[in-house]
Amino acid sequence: MNIVVLTGAGISAESGVPTFRDADGLWEGHDPMTVATPEAFAADPDLVHRFYDERRAVLPRVQPNAAHRALARLEAALGDDLHLVTQNVDDLHERAGSRQVHHMHGRLRAAWCTACDSRHDWGDPLLDRPPCPTCGSRTLRPDVVWFGEVPHDMDVVEERLWACDLFVSIGTSGLVHPAAAFVHWSRGDTLELNLDASAGSTDFARSRRGPATELVPAWVDEVLG
Ligand code: APR
Repeated sequence: MNIVVLTGAGISAESGVPTFRDADGLWEGHDPMTVATPEAFAADPDLVHRFYDERRAVLPRVQPNAAHRALARLEAALGDDLHLVTQNVDDLHERAGSRQVHHMHGRLRAAWCTACDSRHDWGDPLLDRPPCPTCGSRTLRPDVVWFGEVPHDMDVVEERLWACDLFVSIGTSGLVHPAAAFVHWSRGDTLELNLDASAGSTDFARSRRGPATELVPAWVDEVLG
């Protein structure tokens, strides 16, 4: 059984990681256009670094939840027949035990050198412009995909969706492309597991409403039988 799973901020909400568009979400406190675009970074790099440094510093204090762990269990059973693609930049899938995680929007715990194009696992602040481990220049930026930039390896997702038996979307509002279009690329059955109706709910063959920590383990139990 070939399965593609997409996750969004909703899967990490019960771990205490704020979503973007729920009440008191991340974008409630910020205009994404001032902290999550290349233009914003050029205009005020310190503001952008502070925004991502704060979020990176929170990660060690939050834990994966039952939904993350259920997807790790699914990967252990299905191996390469599961493709997990996440819009999230947190590391909770990996810390729950998932080994193959496709971070289409990049990762908070990574830094990208704009001088030499090298990428590095990174847990510390970038505000003080630490030197790039490869070239030494002080031009590291958060290795996340900003609005207006191209998400990573969408061709891989397209191929997997065209070949899948089932596409499952978990914890996403379905408002941001290209992830919002995945349901249309899927050759197989489609299922949405989400707290509220998303922008694309009616495009799914089946939708279940509720918290990810209840819906995802129950669904994985169904799949593994
Ligand atoms: N269980 C399941 N779903 C939940 C839960 C929960 N406990 N809590 C919230 N949700 C759902 C909400 O109903 C909502 O549909 O998660 C979704 C969160 O939506 P957003 O905050 O828009 O997050 P997301 O869909 O991941 O945003 C997509 O937008 O701003 C960009 O790059 C950012 O990756 C992000 C992208």
